Amino acid sequence: MSKMEVKTSLLDNMIGVGDMVLLEPLAEESFLENLKKRFDHNEIYTYIGSVVISVNPYRSLPIYSPEKVEEYRNRNFYELSPHIFSLADEAYRSLRDQDKDQCILITGESGAGKTEASKLVMSYVAAVCGKGAEVNQVKEQLLQSNPVLEAFGNAKTVRNDNSSRFGKYMDIEFDFKGDPLGGVISNYLLEKSRVVKQPRGERNFHVFYQLLSGAPDDMLKKLNLERDFSKYNYLGLDSATVNGVDDAANFRTVRNAMQIVGFMDDETQSVLEVVSAVLKLGNIEFKPESRVNGLDESRVKDKNELKEICELIGIEQTVLERAFSFRTVEAKQEKVSTTLNVAQAYYARDALAKNLYSRLFSWLVNRINESIKAQTKTRKKVMGVLDIYGFEIFEVGHIVFEQFIINYCNEKLQQIFIELTLREEQEEYIREGIEWTHIDYFNNAIICDLIENNTNGILAMLDEECLRPGTVSDETFLEKLNQICAGHEHFESRMSKNSKFLNDHTLPHNCFRIQHYAGKVLYRVEGFVDKNNDLLYRDLSQAMWKASHNLVKSLFPDGNPTKINLKRPPTAGFQFKASVATLMKNLLTKNPNYIRCIKPNDKKAAHIFTDSLVCHQVRYLGLMENVRVRRAGYAFRQTYEPCLERYKMLCKQTWPHWRGPAREGVEVLLKDLQIPREEYSYGRSKIFIRNPRTLFHLEDQRKQRLQDLAALIQKIYRGWKCRTRFLLMKRSQITVAAWYRRYAQQKKYQRIKSSAIVVQSYIRGWKSRKILRELKYQKRCTEAVTTIAAYWHGTQARRELKRLKEEARRKHAVAVIWAYWLGLKVRRDYRKFFRANAGKKIYEFTIQRIMQKYFLELKNKMPSMSPIDKTWPARPYLFLEATHTELRRIFHLWRCKKYRDLFTEQKKAIYDEKLEASEMFKDKKALYPSSVGQPFQGDYLEISKNPKYQKLSTLVEEKIILADIVNKINRANGKATPRIFLLTKNSFLLADQKSGQIKSSVPLSDLTSASMSAQTDGFFAVRVKEGTPAAAKGDFLLSSDRLIEIVTKLYRTCLSSTKEKINIEISDEFLVQFKQDKVCVKFVQGSPKNGSVAACKRKNNRLLEVAVPSP
Ligand SMILES: Nc1ncnc2c1ncn2[C@@H]1O[C@H](COP(=O)(O)OP(=O)(O)O)[C@@H](O)[C@H]1O
Ligand SMILES: [Mg+2]
Repeated sequence: MSKMEVKTSLLDNMIGVGDMVLLEPLAEESFLENLKKRFDHNEIYTYIGSVVISVNPYRSLPIYSPEKVEEYRNRNFYELSPHIFSLADEAYRSLRDQDKDQCILITGESGAGKTEASKLVMSYVAAVCGKGAEVNQVKEQLLQSNPVLEAFGNAKTVRNDNSSRFGKYMDIEFDFKGDPLGGVISNYLLEKSRVVKQPRGERNFHVFYQLLSGAPDDMLKKLNLERDFSKYNYLGLDSATVNGVDDAANFRTVRNAMQIVGFMDDETQSVLEVVSAVLKLGNIEFKPESRVNGLDESRVKDKNELKEICELIGIEQTVLERAFSFRTVEAKQEKVSTTLNVAQAYYARDALAKNLYSRLFSWLVNRINESIKAQTKTRKKVMGVLDIYGFEIFEVGHIVFEQFIINYCNEKLQQIFIELTLREEQEEYIREGIEWTHIDYFNNAIICDLIENNTNGILAMLDEECLRPGTVSDETFLEKLNQICAGHEHFESRMSKNSKFLNDHTLPHNCFRIQHYAGKVLYRVEGFVDKNNDLLYRDLSQAMWKASHNLVKSLFPDGNPTKINLKRPPTAGFQFKASVATLMKNLLTKNPNYIRCIKPNDKKAAHIFTDSLVCHQVRYLGLMENVRVRRAGYAFRQTYEPCLERYKMLCKQTWPHWRGPAREGVEVLLKDLQIPREEYSYGRSKIFIRNPRTLFHLEDQRKQRLQDLAALIQKIYRGWKCRTRFLLMKRSQITVAAWYRRYAQQKKYQRIKSSAIVVQSYIRGWKSRKILRELKYQKRCTEAVTTIAAYWHGTQARRELKRLKEEARRKHAVAVIWAYWLGLKVRRDYRKFFRANAGKKIYEFTIQRIMQKYFLELKNKMPSMSPIDKTWPARPYLFLEATHTELRRIFHLWRCKKYRDLFTEQKKAIYDEKLEASEMFKDKKALYPSSVGQPFQGDYLEISKNPKYQKLSTLVEEKIILADIVNKINRANGKATPRIFLLTKNSFLLADQKSGQIKSSVPLSDLTSASMSAQTDGFFAVRVKEGTPAAAKGDFLLSSDRLIEIVTKLYRTCLSSTKEKINIEISDEFLVQFKQDKVCVKFVQGSPKNGSVAACKRKNNRLLEVAVPSP
């Protein structure tokens, strides 16, 4: 647990003390006072060490909710205020985690809340243990076994409306994970006498009432029952209904529970039949009939009832009737049959009813066990829950055999309590290394011995008395007791030899008294012998065995004549002693947990705490004894860590943190507090405190210290809070002030700034204007200067220019004059050396030289030999213009010739052809320029090589001049069909493009002309001479991108083969002969639908229009 977590403790918020061990002073009064105080504050649980005292609140308290379950789950025992869940949790956890089998012993008187407590424990365990479908079913079966057993084993008594009339011990079995596997139930001592007779104000077992009020009509009819309780002798009339109990609803609950536990429908039916039979047995009545020998003999009064019972359990009426009238005693192979008188018959009847019912109850327990038993064979962990009646002390005259036996059982339980508590205490001391000091306590072994001793114990003597031949009565039994036990210090009797009691009038003559550990109890001997014998006449058990009802038969195996057992069956006392011994042995192997239930009042009412009643129970439950044993050594112990944690504030060294080991911390703490050394002891892991006073002293100091600490914390916190608030306010004030100052200064600054700007601007304006004035003046001055200077310079320059011109003229005049004069002088001097035609010769010579130079230069600057090279050197002299042009022409012709000389014959032909085309189409048809760059290949299809046209090729035979795909225009609609166009030396052919089949063949001599447009389209018409065979079909209108080539070749071939020229007509409108009609083909410019290709369309009978894309 972390140090910061808030720790709760049993010691916190205590009402009185939560643990009686801490009671100071320890006395009965203070014990009661503490219980009462707690009870008044709804604290119904109080501890004595690990024992839980539970006071019945008689009202539902909100302390069993699922939230509470969560709260107590996995917490330490002393961590929270006392609660039954704490005990259940502790038990379950040590079962699960430490593998210790547990038993939970719940004791207390009737109505003290034992059964409720046992159910609370079971439901808590069910809530905290594992989950899952299978586990849930087991849980459900275990929980649902309660209503079934309660219906058959509980009854309304004066003390408790739902009083368990049997002792119950249930082992719940778990697997290693702590998931429930199943359970085993043992039952003890069902109060069967209740079946036939109930004390005043009490009822028979619940099941009878539930059956009568809850069963549907048809079921009642089948069972031969009536709804009216008063019809049945066995149902006491007073208090047949109980306040707040709905028998009918409970009947349904029980049947449902039986189903869940696993009863088959027919089993439930059988059980109800047996219950009905028991009920009806009570109605059988006997009447006396005198016999001859004077003995009374009984007879069944009303045979009808007998008949119904017999029918119900399948038995012959005479058999049962006889069993009620006779008694057969067998002794030493002899059978003696005696008749029964009326009283004996009633005794027999009641004995049968009691036996039938108690055997049915045992059968039920076994049947439930069969259902809920664990299915696995693996080792199981076991938690036993014992819910058994507590010690009972009544006024004189009430205590009977059953109570004696129960008190014996409680005596035994006390013994194991002492044994186990001391053992545990001792083990803890050894574990913790604390010296064992002898504890003075009362050991009740001696009382147990008085009752159970095999030779002279009270039970042994009772058995002996029952078996003894001769007249046996309760008185003879008491006499015997008086003889044998008189000397025993816990046995008291008027008749005993112990003269001490001779005059004790509180002790009647027919009683004996035992001084139990819990107090003295007076027992009346009446009925001891009879009840111990627990006799059922053999005739009755044999009659039952003969029943055809399976369940009844199985309940009476002793009635089987073949298994007759002459030995008497074990007595009730003997049986109980044996089962108690088994139980004790079982419990001793387990870790015990005690719940001591106390009933606060006799009225079954809430809020009432009757001191005397509680005091009585405290006494006989031996609670003071409990506390004493528990306190014998050290009253209080606690592990070091929580102890240090709880008290560390009491010492400076340990507060607020102790760094060393917890034990040292505690040592320092206790030394510092000056607690006497003998008051405590250091164990290995726990501190042991001898006296509760010491603990309370510590607690008081702690409380005081906590208050101081709280005040300190408060002080510091308040100081801190004020300081922080002040600091915050101060900080806020500074912030506000700063912001305000900033704002004010900003305002002021803004004002100053704007005034400064105004002043500044005025000054600047004034200054600027001044400067501007000055600058303007300066500028004007410089301009004036410049102008003056310019004018001046101008004047100067002009003057200078005039002077220079004058000078130049003069110089020129001088030179001219000088030249003329010189010329004149030369002519005058050389006139005698020159002939008349010398001038001409000089001229010629000069010209010659110039020409020479020209040609030589031209030779070096000659352009390339390419005919398309246009360069030519520049002309040097103007007078050579004509020569230069001529030379250029000659050169070009010459290099063209040179170029042509390089041509082969074939190439020449091609160029011829190209030339021809040029002559025909250049500047006439717009398609022409695009054909210039295309070489005329002629055979585009390579007919001879193409296997597809093999047939065609053989048909044609002649050399193919041109082969290409052209479109043949359908004259009817202007649509185009591809055709192979073949031109040979003598004819041209049109053939199918796919099959190569010849469609038309026209000799070239039959052609007259070809027509086409001047546009970029490839449409052309080939005309046939009138009167020839080809003319019958009419002219051909074809189209091809290679129009120029086709027409050129056609023209040339015609010319060469027929020596006649065909007419080439280029016009945007021409006529074509179609059979008889002449159709006009007209070319228009526009954008045809399919883009840039010319399209032909039939407009009417006489017009085919070809749309040619505009260039
Ligand atoms: N813890 C409890 N809270 C509320 N009522 C209780 C509690 N324990 C017992 N009672 C009431 O007391 C009655 C008797 O209790 P029960 O367990 O039957 O007593 P016992 O088994 O000891 O004879 C119950 O029917 C119930 O009304
Ligand atoms: Mg009970």
